[in-house]
Amino acid sequence: MKTQVLKIKDSSKDLKSLLLAASAIKDGDLVVMPTETVYGLGADATNPTAVRKIVSVKNRPADNPLIIHVSNSNQIHDLVKEVTPSAQKIIDHFWPGPISMVLNKNPDLNDVVTAGLDTVVVRQPDHEVARKLIELAGVPIAAPSANTSGKISPTKSEHVLEDLDGKVPIVLDVDNITYGLESTVVDCTGDTSVILRPGSVTTEELKEVLPDIKIESTDCKSKSPGTKYKHYAPDITLTLVESEGMDLEKYLKDKDINHTAVIWHEGDFHDLPHNIRIPVNPYEAAPLLFETLRSADHLPVKEIVIQGFPDTHVGVAIMNRLRKAASRII
Ligand code: TXA
Ligand code: MG
Repeated sequence: MKTQVLKIKDSSKDLKSLLLAASAIKDGDLVVMPTETVYGLGADATNPTAVRKIVSVKNRPADNPLIIHVSNSNQIHDLVKEVTPSAQKIIDHFWPGPISMVLNKNPDLNDVVTAGLDTVVVRQPDHEVARKLIELAGVPIAAPSANTSGKISPTKSEHVLEDLDGKVPIVLDVDNITYGLESTVVDCTGDTSVILRPGSVTTEELKEVLPDIKIESTDCKSKSPGTKYKHYAPDITLTLVESEGMDLEKYLKDKDINHTAVIWHEGDFHDLPHNIRIPVNPYEAAPLLFETLRSADHLPVKEIVIQGFPDTHVGVAIMNRLRKAASRII
């Protein structure tokens, strides 16, 4: 299959490309759709055959359900059984935006998209191209991140092509993926909501709206099937040096520095042969994190070492991704 990459600069001027992508969705084909978090591999959520294509192209475990994207919040009524009070608060404060909610599913919704669970995850993306595509297709769009399962989520169309070239008919290419980390996932089914995956809408922000919100503890069996899989991982061994643990300089002392890539933001590692500096402010680092890991993965090295961030605000989401990606944490 030849993959067509369609550049979208302005969704009203580039309407022809968007109409082509929307008709592919209506026909049960896949479209790589940009969102404000990462690129998604989209299909008509109401069409089980189309959703199965996502699972096979990504090589994704079939027990891992998909997020369904809507263009406006009214569209979720066909997908969920009820909008709980906590879900309504999230909609009012954070939608459209990088936050997904787990709700009990509408029994009419197919089991493929929810991997047989009684719940479904929904999100209204804050990206004009995503919302326009959903609107033109006239159906909600199921979309996991547009990478091979277990690999790093794509924040550029080049990353999408590294994994999916020749496997999808259409990639919509944009220049404004602003967050660069997958959405926060919150379970809103119960009386107390629970954060299942940290993201750019932070715990601190959520607590202002839902003061009794909990964070899923890592030692219990996760309610979010995807969190049990290794994720976001480069091919080369990744070592995470947590900021409060051992100091990066000390760790690098016994290393073969010519075969080690160092991703750093504090201290001074300019002189190392393979060093990549990222911003010290976690809000500036987050959008660059995945592309930095991908570029380190292309260097002629045997190990990638990355310095950790403090576990507050968006740093929590960064550290969640890095701990999952790392083969070794020090
Ligand atoms: O930002 C994002 O969320 C991106 C963009 C494309 O929207 N999508 C994304 O999808 O990251 P994915 O499939 O890579 O991650 C979805 C997460 C997985 O951890 C999955 O297990 C969890 O949501 N999930 C899906 N349905 C669930 C359910 N019914 N209950 C609990 N967790 C669920
Ligand atoms: Mg993913």
